[in-house]
Amino acid sequence: MAIWNLGSINADMVYAMPHLPTAGETLAATGLDQFLGGKGANMSVAAARAGSRVHHIGAVGPEGAWAVARLMEYGVDTRRIATLDLPTGHAIIAVEQGGENQIILFPGANRHISRDQIGQALSEAAAGDILVLQNETNMQAEAAEMARDLGLRVAYAAAPFDAAAVQAVLPYLDLLFLNEVEAQQLQQAGGKAPQDLGVAHVIVTLGAKGARHFDGGTGQITDVPALSVTPVDTTGAGDTFTGYVLSGLDRGLPMAQAMAQAARAGALMVTRNGTADVIPDLKEVQEARF
Ligand code: RIB
Repeated sequence: MAIWNLGSINADMVYAMPHLPTAGETLAATGLDQFLGGKGANMSVAAARAGSRVHHIGAVGPEGAWAVARLMEYGVDTRRIATLDLPTGHAIIAVEQGGENQIILFPGANRHISRDQIGQALSEAAAGDILVLQNETNMQAEAAEMARDLGLRVAYAAAPFDAAAVQAVLPYLDLLFLNEVEAQQLQQAGGKAPQDLGVAHVIVTLGAKGARHFDGGTGQITDVPALSVTPVDTTGAGDTFTGYVLSGLDRGLPMAQAMAQAARAGALMVTRNGTADVIPDLKEVQEARF
């Protein structure tokens, strides 16, 4: 099977900060690095490094060829990435010493993907493949509906969170990824707890407490514990977790096993500075000692 990812591609400008700046504050960074990023690109790289065949559907600007080349280098099929006459998306990321971050997003080309581009890509997908989406591109509901009609399994990572964006794709979803705060926000907006959303699988990540799977079919709830690590940079850890869960499912693992492997990948990721470029591969994840 394969994973299709309608996903953002960003240049991540990562600033090391003594603390996260507050309103009105001017604060000097102690370091600056540039990485390949974007929630979409991070998930594509994670799933490819976990062993899946991944096709990225997205867009960059004329100066974004380096990002496409890097995705390809990391094993992602980049043939469905368009080059538009718009700037490539970028993110300005402040990371403080405890690993927490603050992100300013400039969406650029990520929000100008055409329906035709998605239709052409998905016409090559097979029933049973997975389409994953996040909230950093346009055309989310349209793509989800097309994929559902073609018999793909549709997964959505509700980040950056927007209740209306989640509700627009909800009817087409087989899998929904939320963090604890997003799950509460969605419940406030729609009045439904994760197990009542009508989605076959809802995964809520709980930070240091691990992750919880709600099986919409059986009503069963399964907890997967987190691993104990000292974080240096939490950026991209959630994307790594999502990519690894999807790859596990794509490769036929049972949900609990896919989540346990993803928890190891996410734990390893928070011990590293950076985003897509530092996502661990399956061998590193399996051999890591926590
Ligand atoms: O989740 C981390 C990602 O969010 C970064 O790579 C950044 O580009 C933003 O999309």
